[in-house]
Amino acid sequence: MCGIIGYIGNRDAVPLLLKGLKRLEYRGYDSAGIAVLTDGQIHSIKKSGKVSQLEVLVDDTPMKGSIGIAHTRWATHGEPNDINAHPHLDHTGRIALIHNGIIENHETIRKVLEERDIPFTSDTDSEALVQLVSAMYFDDDELSFEGAFRAALQDVVGAYGVVAVCAEEPETVLAARMGSPLVIGIGEGEYFLASDASPIVEYTRNVIYLDEGEMVKLTPDNHSISRIDSSEIVSRGSVEIEMSIEQIEKGDFDHFMLKEIHEQKHTITDTMRGRLNLEDGTTHLGGIADFKPSILAADRVYITACGTSWHAALIGKQLIENYAQIPVDVEYASEFRYRNAIINPDTVLIAVSQSGETADTLAAIRKAKNLGALTIGICNVVGSSIARETDAGIYTHAGPEIGVASTKAFTAQVAVMTMLALSLGRRKGFDAGLGRDLTKALHHIDNDIQTILDDDQSIRKVAQDTHMVDNFLYLGRGINFPVALEGALKLKEISYIHAEGYPAAEMKHGPIALIDENMPVVFIAPRDDTYSKILSNIQEVKARRGIVISITDRKTRELDSLSDHLLEVPRTHKHVFPITASIILQLLAYHLAVLRGCEIDQPRNLAKSVTVE
Ligand code: F6R
Repeated sequence: MCGIIGYIGNRDAVPLLLKGLKRLEYRGYDSAGIAVLTDGQIHSIKKSGKVSQLEVLVDDTPMKGSIGIAHTRWATHGEPNDINAHPHLDHTGRIALIHNGIIENHETIRKVLEERDIPFTSDTDSEALVQLVSAMYFDDDELSFEGAFRAALQDVVGAYGVVAVCAEEPETVLAARMGSPLVIGIGEGEYFLASDASPIVEYTRNVIYLDEGEMVKLTPDNHSISRIDSSEIVSRGSVEIEMSIEQIEKGDFDHFMLKEIHEQKHTITDTMRGRLNLEDGTTHLGGIADFKPSILAADRVYITACGTSWHAALIGKQLIENYAQIPVDVEYASEFRYRNAIINPDTVLIAVSQSGETADTLAAIRKAKNLGALTIGICNVVGSSIARETDAGIYTHAGPEIGVASTKAFTAQVAVMTMLALSLGRRKGFDAGLGRDLTKALHHIDNDIQTILDDDQSIRKVAQDTHMVDNFLYLGRGINFPVALEGALKLKEISYIHAEGYPAAEMKHGPIALIDENMPVVFIAPRDDTYSKILSNIQEVKARRGIVISITDRKTRELDSLSDHLLEVPRTHKHVFPITASIILQLLAYHLAVLRGCEIDQPRNLAKSVTVE
């Protein structure tokens, strides 16, 4: 939700900030803006639409400066037009601010300031903050920009990652974090600030993650971190970021999503590296090793997440219950945080998140922690809030995911869930031989993925035959029901085709009414114990002239004859099949969206990393 970047140093800040915005654009892309400090003045340009549209304007009106801030927006308050775009300037034009998050008491602040005849120009909550900083700064001769910024933040209720500059103190950039992430990049006589490390990595690997409730003052040669509610300096060492430039560039692929789908043959191996024990048929997850006894002894295990990560959680439940016989409840984080769930010191909460910054998931963790539960994070982004706030965790190691629709992070989450389930199961006496069958299948998954990628033509053909329809249905049973949900979500997100996922047998209880010759129905049909049941469901669709698309790991004559399209994944373990089948569904959604001319990496209304409720 919104990407923010700031720079202070000796370089020409404008191209650096614009390039940084492009790297952050996946976080929000409805409008963008930039402000630089030159000759004691703030120069700002803002534009609705993509960063490329802002770039055109900046080319027409050149601006220069070595201190600046820039923002790419995902609108919350006020429509995405030029005026509501960030940076927001105070009424004197001497202070500029960019903000990611929501200022909950913005109406009260605005009312008080408007009563003092301070004019507002935008509909945003963020403008209230810059006007408040300004009022405090210009009202009190004794107060520095830093003092006014701190005082204003203390009056604010809500979530923010915020960066501000002031023309009166042109050698300073201020930033603060409450609920929305901020990373400081440390260079030689220069500093960078951004929502994540992606725009920083080409300049420095040396970073500091700002903690919740902290602010920082940057000058070209110095940084000082303090709590927002106290001016006492906090000392903090820097850490090295592991990300590489190749990981955040598209390379030869048309879209990040396609690149990330293809990367899965490596990312899955990265997820499992050093964690599979083929000999003993088990797995080793160092991050939770000390906490395994607590998980095994827990009264209650919840897995919480949002969106695609929630689908991985549903698969995790089936696996943990199957291998370890521990009952698991899966909860949407947005529901869990507000309901009176049973949580006590014998509860374990596992939170699944690609970004590690999802507001609802973080809130669910904090609630469980407050009530004494053990919290475990399954995260992709190293150093993210969820990774830092949970008691223990397992990184998914899928690498940076830039495409807004999650692909490689999802399969990595499922791989972690599978390893976790087996590891717990083996401790509870699950058979070593059966464990070996699973670890062996996991070990070979990169070959299976390559085979699927090599047969992309067949998937594209299905997309060609179906891309004009308005609806899709996805059906699966057991562990493949969440796979159906995920397939449907992927399609909705990027192609805007309406799609729903159901347990296959549920079709008869309602959705069957939708089936006619224009309705493609995707069946997730592995050759497992549900196979004959799935075949009956396919017959029912066929009888109503629906278009049957089957995904299987073992083609039979019957399935072939009933299916209008049959897509095969290599024969594999039934608990590895959800991963390979999901990759087919990702490619299907991708090709359908491309054929419909949709924006693949930045679908409308979406943003990666949902840091607001
Ligand atoms: C869908 C997608 C979202 C996220 C959800 C949770 O493709 O990416 O549904 O899965 O917003 O995000 P994380 O996993 O970052 O907590």
